[in-house]
Amino acid sequence: MRTQLETLKNTALDALKKAADIRALEELRVRFLGKKGELTAVLKQMGALAPEERPVIGGLANDLRALLEEAIENASKRLEKAALSARLRNETVDVTMPGRAVKLGRRHPMSIVIDEVYDIFLGMGFSVADGPEVETTYYCFDALNTFEGHPARDERDTFYFDEKTILRTQTSSVQIRTMEKTKPPIRIISPGRTYRKDEIDATHSPMFHQIEGLVVDSGITMADLKGCLETLMKGLYGAETRLRFRPHHFPYTEPSAEVDLQCFVCGGKGCRMCKGEGWIELLGAGMVHPQVLRNCDIDPEVYSGFAFGVGIERLALMRFDITDMRLLFENDVRFLRQFV
Ligand code: DAH
Repeated sequence: MRTQLETLKNTALDALKKAADIRALEELRVRFLGKKGELTAVLKQMGALAPEERPVIGGLANDLRALLEEAIENASKRLEKAALSARLRNETVDVTMPGRAVKLGRRHPMSIVIDEVYDIFLGMGFSVADGPEVETTYYCFDALNTFEGHPARDERDTFYFDEKTILRTQTSSVQIRTMEKTKPPIRIISPGRTYRKDEIDATHSPMFHQIEGLVVDSGITMADLKGCLETLMKGLYGAETRLRFRPHHFPYTEPSAEVDLQCFVCGGKGCRMCKGEGWIELLGAGMVHPQVLRNCDIDPEVYSGFAFGVGIERLALMRFDITDMRLLFENDVRFLRQFV
């Protein structure tokens, strides 16, 4: 039996040394030390020994069990360590690898201009009003003194859903909605999309944006309108900016004016930009017509007001020296990347 134990010891130690992973190790433990294992099989033969031999062999068997348990414990530590370093090796991060660049979005040139206009007007105590793009003909035309058959309505008559519902052709409709809801003093601007039956070219689009402005209070005069628009344009284009007010006609203002900007390319001498005029047409404006005030239950004997409407695309083209309006809508990132 001594030799049996000796052989068992050698086989077991040898096998433990070769165990490749924790599972193989566990199998070896069962094979040598388990209830039906090889050591137990040897001990079962104890009965055949001479009585004085039994404690000796029993002692040797216990020593062997302890030895093997320790060897298994050591092998297990070795395998765990190996597994850990293998994992570390596989999961290493290569800190020298270049990172993936994060692409930051930018504001659209139109948004930049709208934000600048907000800044200027909020600084003058205005608030921002909103109105629907799908509008009734009442708010878009009738309440603005532009009745059916009016020539000004003809050229604007555009996308109809039914006889009384259209895509708004101008943000002026928000004037009426505001005056119906709020009593003077009123100071609002209202930016938004507008729609007309224009063909697309470098300066036209069937969808474009306007900012409407409206001030109603007691004692408002044309001088307030001029001061307000000068503040806007100097804020956008610099202190040297010069404006010209030309008499014009809008059904909802009296008097009405078209406002031109002195050409920023030639300084008024005449060039290709301003088509030799020296001035660039910018916006429509005027003193709110007394009938429009009356339509909104505001007494024109007590209150007066001014209003204006300006195309935002046009402001953006001039703000950034862009020559074709279509660039604003195509959303080509190579173009948009240029604006901060
Ligand atoms: N609604 C005009 C347009 O679309 C612009 C305009 C002119 C707005 C005079 C006004 C105004 O508020 O008073 O061309």
